[in-house]
Amino acid sequence: MTKTTREVFADAEELAIHGAALLNAAVETARRPPRICLAGGSTPKRLYELLAGPPFVFEFPWDVAHWFFGDERFVPHDHKDSNARMVSEALFNKVPVSSDNKHFVPTRASSPEVAAASYERELQKIYGAEALDPKEPMFDIVLVGFGDDGHTASLFPGTPAVNETTRWMATTVGVKPEPRLSLTFPVLNSARHVIILGAGASKADVVKRVARGEDLPLTKIRPTGELHWMLDKAAAGEK
Ligand code: 6PG
Repeated sequence: MTKTTREVFADAEELAIHGAALLNAAVETARRPPRICLAGGSTPKRLYELLAGPPFVFEFPWDVAHWFFGDERFVPHDHKDSNARMVSEALFNKVPVSSDNKHFVPTRASSPEVAAASYERELQKIYGAEALDPKEPMFDIVLVGFGDDGHTASLFPGTPAVNETTRWMATTVGVKPEPRLSLTFPVLNSARHVIILGAGASKADVVKRVARGEDLPLTKIRPTGELHWMLDKAAAGEK
């Protein structure tokens, strides 16, 4: 049974501060060079910026942490919509992370499928197996956001990727302007900690629907470790 916590903060800035603090604390207790899987979109950007500043920038084990992406848009890493670009500008370009420790999704591959297969191989090589063991989570921390349709990462309602349990990374074309690549739920859930970040009133309806147990992609986030809901008041539907 997943241990779940839920915290509600006054606003997006408070959410980002506490999210950075939780990530920093969870990494401190990680049992090995920590593996952290990041979310894209706009919500986590401020958290990444705060991680790159005091006090976290002085405390964080930059030399050993390895960074991964839960999903990516199939665009070049310098494209305005690239998660790699967003995280690099908000975090990586400001802290001493070795390029060997940044595991970007290879979006210059010949196709989204080739990119997904390549990333899957890279993760399996690092994990040391092609099958996930619940007792050996792939990640120490996974950050995810969610959309007002209940998607998370790039796992969108009604798409085959939501039900993919064999592939570690799946592709979805035609839902968004650019092809999307996403780790699948078995991989996202293979984590000591999953942090679900939500800010803004547009997220409140999905939060309620998940709480009611509605079958949305976000509802499938059930980590082998601990699940932390971190919301601002607006997303929590509180005044
Ligand atoms: C992405 C994210 C996606 C995001 C949600 C919420 O690549 O866009 O992985 O799942 O977390 O769409 O996006 P916002 O944080 O911008 O609301």
